[in-house]
Amino acid sequence: MTTWPDPFFGVATAAYQIEGAVAEDGRGESIWDRFSHTPGAVARGETGDVACDHYHRWAEDLDLMAGLGIETYRFSIAWPRVVPDGRGPVNRPGLDWYRRLAEGLRERGIEPVATLYHWDLPQALQDEGGWAARDTTARFAEYAAATAAALGDVIAAWITHNEPNVAAFVGHAIGRHAPGGRDWATALRVSHHLLLSHGLAVRALRAALPAGTPVGITLNLHPAYAAGDTEADRAAARLADGHQNRWFLDPVLHGRYPQDMLDHYAATLGPPDSVRDGDLETIAQPIDFLGVNYYFPQRVTADADEVPLGFRRAEPRPPLTAMGWEQDARAFRDLLDCLHRDLGGLPVWITENGAAIEDAVVDGRVDDPARIAYLRDHLAAVAAARDAGVDIRRYFVWSFLDNFEWAEGYRPRFGIVRVDYETQKRIPKASAAWYRDRIAELRSA
Ligand code: FCB
Repeated sequence: MTTWPDPFFGVATAAYQIEGAVAEDGRGESIWDRFSHTPGAVARGETGDVACDHYHRWAEDLDLMAGLGIETYRFSIAWPRVVPDGRGPVNRPGLDWYRRLAEGLRERGIEPVATLYHWDLPQALQDEGGWAARDTTARFAEYAAATAAALGDVIAAWITHNEPNVAAFVGHAIGRHAPGGRDWATALRVSHHLLLSHGLAVRALRAALPAGTPVGITLNLHPAYAAGDTEADRAAARLADGHQNRWFLDPVLHGRYPQDMLDHYAATLGPPDSVRDGDLETIAQPIDFLGVNYYFPQRVTADADEVPLGFRRAEPRPPLTAMGWEQDARAFRDLLDCLHRDLGGLPVWITENGAAIEDAVVDGRVDDPARIAYLRDHLAAVAAARDAGVDIRRYFVWSFLDNFEWAEGYRPRFGIVRVDYETQKRIPKASAAWYRDRIAELRSA
């Protein structure tokens, strides 16, 4: 029977998805402000201008969190609140807001865990080339150093990047996320710069933080399965795993890019033009945990017309969430087992896991049995993996509140707490009560 580390049970959010107050206290513009205000970029033209108004409502939100027995909270720091133009002096009022938040968490007995980059690059840096420019990696390290110097005494653990895979490829190749680029060679360069900036930031954080403060990175991992029982589809699954998972895992954990993917990208995009001597040593700085976001597995089929990937997603298997994502806790368990073999004892934090479910307020209540089932099954997979020896130290539900789901806007609801965007009223859903009771039950077992 699993004994659970304390703290363990958490919830997660990200700055642009919940804060609002985009022009307050000296905050600068981010690429998501610019992108969301670009016609056609986000569903229904929605933006994060107000979002959940958490910037003003943080105290009541933390009270709600405490009432659920939440033990740890993963939030992100908006770079443009701290360094509005991406370079130059820090903006004290921005840092002070995060200090109040972290202190407010501690007062309520909740561990503050901060992500430095959850996709909101200062627009001023984008204007100079953004993550495609190597110089941005140095700016990120400066921002990390300044933030750690200011908040190192109140933030318990730090995550450099959230899902560099999405920031690189969805933001720069597919164009569905900010800054909206559609060029694969640029996206590949961006992926290297994001990883390099992770290594530089780890060094900067270590220099500024109290000894022993845990530092890690969060990757979105998708176990890849061949859709058909053919050699071509099995090769496609290896490519999908290489593109989604190993391209990020291998440099961070082992200081090298996977050779099959180097060959694949060199053949399709030309030789990589951004990797310099010493970069991989920097990227492979020792970290204290690997953050894993898990939502769904990918089933893929070979497709030569898909350049440069060479594969495409096959039909997902029902039941699907409101995002069209497959619900598969078994694949989660597989992923954790595979990781275990690769990690050499490095602890894992599940930094996001959850489901968008169409829920509604009926007589003042929100019943969301499908979300409860998803969380129940995935938490059971975590327990089973722990029993099998995988060193999982945290679990964060995505998300605490319904929020701005990037290009999809406000329609998909991931929260265990419902947000009425007209009134900003919060209504804890049945899943919030379920999580509260589950935590209490596991703690008293
Ligand atoms: C992840 C993001 C997070 C949220 C969830 C649903 O990719 O990190 O911000 O949008 O998906």
